[in-house]
Amino acid sequence: MDVVDTIDALRQARQQMKGTVGLVPTMGALHDGHLALVRQAKAENDVVIVSIFVNPTQFNPNEDLSKYPRDIPHDLELLRQEDVDLVFTPTPELIYPEGFQTWVNVEQVSQGLEGERRPGHFRGVTTVVAKLFNLTQPKRAYFGQKDAQQAVVIKRMTRDLNFPIVIRICPTVREPDGLAMSSRNVYLNPEHRAAAAVIRRALLAASSAYENGERNADDIRIVIEHVLETEPLVEVDYISIANAVTLHEIEIQTDDPLLISLVVNMGGTHLLDNILLPAAHNTIDGLTDTLGGA
Ligand code: PAJ
Repeated sequence: MDVVDTIDALRQARQQMKGTVGLVPTMGALHDGHLALVRQAKAENDVVIVSIFVNPTQFNPNEDLSKYPRDIPHDLELLRQEDVDLVFTPTPELIYPEGFQTWVNVEQVSQGLEGERRPGHFRGVTTVVAKLFNLTQPKRAYFGQKDAQQAVVIKRMTRDLNFPIVIRICPTVREPDGLAMSSRNVYLNPEHRAAAAVIRRALLAASSAYENGERNADDIRIVIEHVLETEPLVEVDYISIANAVTLHEIEIQTDDPLLISLVVNMGGTHLLDNILLPAAHNTIDGLTDTLGGA
């Protein structure tokens, strides 16, 4: 496994690669959710590149950039075990050199949900992902359904900017109690960690209500709130019930596929999860094309 931290070394390594290249962009502190993307990339491509870069431009000033978990040696060990071909570990100065002033901004689908809670977040994400696409020129790039809005935004960018890249969205990998794996879970104390399982229970309750015919957004929201209220340690940031393609909030009701997203705050740690309904949809892959929207 090669590890490179300069643009020249990356370009040189890329030029030597033969066959199809799969890219997995990450911010490190790798867990099984990331490794599932790596395995999917291995299965579908001749060569796999993983990037590890805690991207400063997608953090808000009040967020946890400096204390975001970092452990490159451990990450590299995990990636070596997965037989990854190349790992790119740039510094912020390399990605954003002095004078940097070019940004990629996906307008509409970046606006609600996380875009509203974290202004500028998606501009940072799309800019760094566009740079990674240009630098590594993959045939396929892999993202997780866990960050559903990010997946929608990146698919939109890829189409709009004509990147010749297939975006693959992989299902959310969970802990045994249902908590979505996340690099931020390490911030939770044992009490919060135990309580966090309520997030998945709330989303599954919404799913059951939906399966039983409930289509009214307000009533689905109430079902979620009732489950969340059983855990006093959980403070709700937002509950979004949106069209899974356009991400427009559902005012009353619809038969279109829904993306229900939830962000809760537990002792200062924001935990994010979502579920697609009908539950037959594991990821947004396929939705965009079949519905012809977004
Ligand atoms: P990061 O949070 O490190 O996540 C990297 C990728 O792993 C993302 O596509 C994310 O959706 C996916 N992922 C995280 N947890 C997952 C889980 N439990 N199951 C499945 N996939 C999961 O997302 C980012 O980094 C950054 O925004 C990035 C795209 C790298 C741009 O900086």
